[in-house]
Amino acid sequence: MTANSKYTTETITYLHRWTPNLFTLRTTRGEAFKFVPGQFARLGVQKGDKIVWRAYSILSADYDEHLEFLSIVVPDGEFTSELTNLKVGDPLFVDKTAYGFLTRDRFEQGKDLWMLATGTGLAPFLSILYDFSAWEEYDRLILVQSVREKAELAYEDTIRAFATHEFYSEFAHKLHYVPIVTREVVEGALDTRITDLLKNGGLETATGIPLDQERSRIMICGNPDMVEETRTILSERGFTLSRRGAPGHLAVEQLW
Ligand SMILES: Cc1cc2nc3c(=O)[nH]c(=O)nc-3n(C[C@H](O)[C@H](O)[C@H](O)COP(=O)(O)OP(=O)(O)OC[C@H]3O[C@@H](n4cnc5c(N)ncnc54)[C@H](O)[C@@H]3O)c2cc1C
Ligand SMILES: NC(=O)c1ccc[n+]([C@@H]2O[C@H](COP(=O)([O-])OP(=O)(O)OC[C@H]3O[C@@H](n4cnc5c(N)ncnc54)[C@H](OP(=O)(O)O)[C@@H]3O)[C@@H](O)[C@H]2O)c1
Repeated sequence: MTANSKYTTETITYLHRWTPNLFTLRTTRGEAFKFVPGQFARLGVQKGDKIVWRAYSILSADYDEHLEFLSIVVPDGEFTSELTNLKVGDPLFVDKTAYGFLTRDRFEQGKDLWMLATGTGLAPFLSILYDFSAWEEYDRLILVQSVREKAELAYEDTIRAFATHEFYSEFAHKLHYVPIVTREVVEGALDTRITDLLKNGGLETATGIPLDQERSRIMICGNPDMVEETRTILSERGFTLSRRGAPGHLAVEQLW
C-alpha cells in the first residue's frame, strides 16, 4: 500500500459463524475511516495477483474502534469463497471512503422509523440502532428481520438486549422488533414474507403501529426482489422514494 492508496490494510480481529453460510467478522478500523450509520464499505480480498472488491454494509457503531460486518457465503462466489477462509490475524483491504444513501438524513420530520431487512440486509440497521441520535429523533423504531431459518436470526440477542443495555435502555420502549422466519415454524416469530405482511396489514397488526405518510419513514434493505416488490406496494399506498434534495418516505438498498 502506498501513502496515497485508496484503501488501508486492516486486520481481522474476530469471527463468529451463525450458520455454515452466514458469519460475522470484525476488523481493525483505520483512524481516518469515517462513515454515517447505514453506509457501506468496500472490502477487498487478495485473489492471486488481484484484489477482488465487494460492497459491505457496516454493522458496527460509528463510535466503535472496530468495523463489523455480517456476511453471506455464496457457494463459488468470487469474493465470499475467499472471505470465508480468512482467519483472525489475516489482512482485509478496506476502501478509505464509505458510500451509500441508506441514511437517516434522507428523511425529514418522521416519527416512526421502519427498517425492513431480509438476510444480511440487517447490517445497516444495527449501525443505525447503535446511533443514539436515531433513538432521540424518532418516537418509534421498528426493526423487521426476515430470514429463512431460525439459525439465521443473527443478532437477535443483541437486538433484544437493547432493553436492558446500560446506555440504550432508557429509550428501549421505542424499539419494536419483528423477527420473521419463513421456512420454519418458530415461536415468537412471524412466518410470512414482508411483502405479504404489508399487503395484508400483518406488520401493522403485529406492531400495533399504522403505516402513514405523516409519521412513517421506511428503509428497505436486502434481497432485490423484496426491495422492489416492497417499494411497489408502498408506492401504491402513496409513499414516495427520497431523492437528493427531495425528501420522501422511502430509502432503499439492494444487496445484489
Ligand atoms: C450496497 C451493498 C451492500 C452490501 N452489503 C452486504 C453485506 O453487508 N453482507 C453481505 O454478505 N453482502 C453484502 N452485499 C453483497 C456483496 O457485495 C457480495 O455480493 C457478496 O459478498 C457475495 O460476493 P461473491 O463474489 O461471493 O458473489 P457475487 O458474485 O457478488 O454474488 C453472487 C450471487 O450471490 C447472491 N448474493 C450476493 N450477496 C448476497 C447477500 N448478501 N445475501 C444473499 N445472497 C447474496 C446473489 O444471488 C448474487 O447474484 C452488499 C452489496 C451491495 C451492493
Ligand atoms: N439460507 C439458506 O438456507 C440457503 C440455502 C441454500 C442457498 N442459499 C442461497 O443463499 C442466498 C441468500 O439466502 P438468504 O436466505 O440470505 O436470502 P433470501 O433468499 O433473500 O431470503 C431471506 C429472506 O427474504 C425473504 N424473501 C426472499 N425473496 C423475497 C421477496 N421477493 N419478497 C419478500 N421476501 C422475500 C425470504 O423468504 P422466503 O423463505 O419465502 O424465500 C427470507 O425470509 C440465496 O442466493 C440462496 O440461493 C441460502
